[in-house]
Amino acid sequence: KSRLLVLGIETSCDETGAAVVDDRGNVLGEALHSQKLVHLKHGGIVPTVAQQLHRDHIEDVVQGALDRAGLRLQDVSAIAATVKPGLALCLQIGVEYAKKLVKQSGKPFIPVHHMEAHALTARMMENIEFPFLVFLLSGGHCLLAVARGVGDFLLLGSTTDEAPGVVFDQVARKLKLKHHPACRTLSGGQAIEVLATTGDSQAFKLTVPMARYANCDFSFAGHKNQTYRLIDKKEKEEGIPADSDQIVSCVNDIAASFQRTATQHLMQRLHRAILYCQQRHIIPEHNKTLVLSGGVASNMYIRRSLQAVTDRFGYQLVCPPPRLCTDNGVMIAWAGMEWLKEGRGIAEDPEAVEFQPR
Ligand code: KG4
Ligand code: ZN
Repeated sequence: KSRLLVLGIETSCDETGAAVVDDRGNVLGEALHSQKLVHLKHGGIVPTVAQQLHRDHIEDVVQGALDRAGLRLQDVSAIAATVKPGLALCLQIGVEYAKKLVKQSGKPFIPVHHMEAHALTARMMENIEFPFLVFLLSGGHCLLAVARGVGDFLLLGSTTDEAPGVVFDQVARKLKLKHHPACRTLSGGQAIEVLATTGDSQAFKLTVPMARYANCDFSFAGHKNQTYRLIDKKEKEEGIPADSDQIVSCVNDIAASFQRTATQHLMQRLHRAILYCQQRHIIPEHNKTLVLSGGVASNMYIRRSLQAVTDRFGYQLVCPPPRLCTDNGVMIAWAGMEWLKEGRGIAEDPEAVEFQPR
């Protein structure tokens, strides 16, 4: 029996990605076009700009993935694409392009859920059995879930307002870190992590969000606003006009205090999630695994802190390599492969598949 090959396409947010993977988790070819720098200039993602960039690059990205794999479209077993969730204008480009390829090739179409793909990626590299815990932390997502099987997820909690990545980015902007000599080429989150390493994380008392709520949901907006007020106060004390490039002298302490409090929130939620799973025997004793993914998971302070929680409960912590933690085509191809291997998930009528932003 010849091996299975899936072509995956991702366009849900600000990365145009494509890849071909086989049923053993080998990546045969991949290509990625990132829009992050463009959006950095706009201070956030403008959906119409993102859509145009996806449109401009999708063909090259998909062809690039096939070329690197040394394959033609006819060689793949199925085509997978992200259909939800994400920005409508962005999802539309990937879904329409996938449908075009499906029509042209007669190959099966596998619609993929972006979050599920993030969660399943870890199974591509390591032998992780269901059920396992998943923690996704990025610019767009924040959720804790139990992956019980392909297409079978139990959501334990998600953010009630913003995702941690954007809040790190916004606080970095408020601190004017673009003008900081050590941070010029870094994302907001990276900049805060770097400055925090030489800051006093106890310098300012910030409130850990939702500490008294007995659930696994998240909130970052209040924490952000409290940090904003702290920055305003310090700038005023030092006579710095808000619209100047000048940075407050205690920037490292603010970064460290902000990061510590946000991380305590993440630790508390993970702690609750583990207790919940323990009480209900959701994760078997011999299979205690947490998969941590998303751009924010590359923060080593956050990772070490969450590791302290998993260590305490005897969970194994699995972090996919950074290039697989952020959005990419490989994760979509692999998610499609997981469905295909189970003989499920193929759209009966590919033309009728619609994208679903939420
Ligand atoms: O997964 P990702 O690449 O894509 C989106 O969801 O957009 O995550 C990007 C986010 C950005 O907000 C970035 O600031 C954040 O992840 N990030 C970090 C770090 N590296 C990236 N946040 C905190 N600490 C980091 N080291
Ligand atoms: Zn994502």
